[in-house]
Amino acid sequence: MLHLLQPTPPSWVQAAAAEVDTLLADHAHCELKAAQSALSLVARFGSEHPLLVEPLTALAREETQHFRLVYERIQARGGDVGVPARDDYVRALRSAARQDAEHPLLDRLLICALIEARSCERFKVLSEGLPDKTLADFYRGLMAAEARHFTLFAGLAEGVFGAGARARLATLARREAAVARHLPLGPTVHG
Ligand SMILES: [Fe+2]
Ligand SMILES: [Fe+2]
Repeated sequence: MLHLLQPTPPSWVQAAAAEVDTLLADHAHCELKAAQSALSLVARFGSEHPLLVEPLTALAREETQHFRLVYERIQARGGDVGVPARDDYVRALRSAARQDAEHPLLDRLLICALIEARSCERFKVLSEGLPDKTLADFYRGLMAAEARHFTLFAGLAEGVFGAGARARLATLARREAAVARHLPLGPTVHG
């Protein structure tokens, strides 16, 4: 699915279902980080690559909207969004890319693509396995957006770097699978 080589074990959904408040708080921060990272790409590379500006500012707006949707659910449950925890998955992906870093923009776009793909896969697992049907439907709705975001980032990488972006995506996808294989299976989006 979307270049992912390591499927999430079905047991992960049990960890998530057992601690929905933790899952939602982590998810809310993932949406904020997605918005922040899109805007930071615009700030750093928008001048050199103007084709990034429109799609990434639109993406930041959409991810901010996702944050608000998740935040409303947290509030409705009487929960608290808390402060962001360290995301070991994302840190491991970045460090795996640094082994033989190519262009910094290429790697950043492709890491974003893989994070979107993994989020999409995880939302699919939640949509199929959460016992709370309202929440399962919520995740089914978000799944399609994450798949679209994967395509957006992979397309931008190819638009800027040409066909070479595909080979680099295949390399980083193999490393993402190795990272995903060792995730602790906790109640977080990338746990
Ligand atoms: Fe999102
Ligand atoms: Fe996304």
